[in-house]
Amino acid sequence: MSATVPTVTPAPTAATAFAPLGRFTATQRLLHWTMAACILAMLFIGVGMVSTITTKYVTLVSIHRPLGIAILVLAILRLAVRLRFGAPPLPPDMPEPMKLAAKLSHWVFYGLMIAMPVIGWAMLSAANYPVVMWGGFTLPPILPPSEATHAILWNAHFTLAFAFFALILVHLAAALFHALVRRDGVFEAMAPVPSGRGGVPAE
Ligand code: HEM
Ligand code: HEM
Repeated sequence: MSATVPTVTPAPTAATAFAPLGRFTATQRLLHWTMAACILAMLFIGVGMVSTITTKYVTLVSIHRPLGIAILVLAILRLAVRLRFGAPPLPPDMPEPMKLAAKLSHWVFYGLMIAMPVIGWAMLSAANYPVVMWGGFTLPPILPPSEATHAILWNAHFTLAFAFFALILVHLAAALFHALVRRDGVFEAMAPVPSGRGGVPAE
């Protein structure tokens, strides 16, 4: 008589209950967090600039111009890295409209990270002001002087800055929703250091 040995399925552990979702590469994470700090600083420096009529304006604008151009260079590099290495897949249980919103908002971010500095540079060129970098090096104008063009670009820089701010707030809310409510590994994909919690429920 042969006894049937019952098979025991091991209880899921943190290690077995989640399949790895994948993370952005270290370069992508470094660029994301460095640029997030620079962009937030730029928004506050910009608002500070237009809220003062003291000599602090000169100090703030002399940071705003080169930091903005540094963001432009980093954004182009980041776009190239993104096109080369892609992004980890979003969790399969994430609703399609949410996935679409995430992807669209990321491309809008790329657009803004490039458009804002280019508009700033073009705006100063149209106003016939020099775009002075750190060390006194001056960038060439990218537009001929024109009062009308300057006014249009000033309005575009102003409006897009507020759109940028609004999108960052939505992005921050979404990141916290993934990290604290859904706990689906999306936050861990971009977290500076691994938390050991990243992943999607295994099939
Ligand atoms: C990611 C890049 C950038 C961001 C987020 C940004 C953001 C801002 C913000 C929030 C303001 C204040 C808008 C207002 O409340 O009226 C501003 C103003 C300004 N920005 Fe930028 N900016 C960027 C890049 C640049 C660059 C590259 C330049 C020039 C090379 C530039 C030149 C200016 C100037 C001259 C003003 C002040 C305009 C005035 O005095 O009326 N910006 N920017
Ligand atoms: C100025 C601020 C920020 C900008 C411009 C920005 C921009 C971006 C962009 C463009 C992506 C997509 C990456 C890609 O597909 O290549 C991304 C992803 C991400 N960001 Fe931000 N970010 C900012 C701030 C933050 C903050 C403050 C947090 C969290 C507290 C955050 C959390 C995340 C997470 C979790 C992802 C991964 C999302 C995914 O895999 O779909 N970001 N961010």
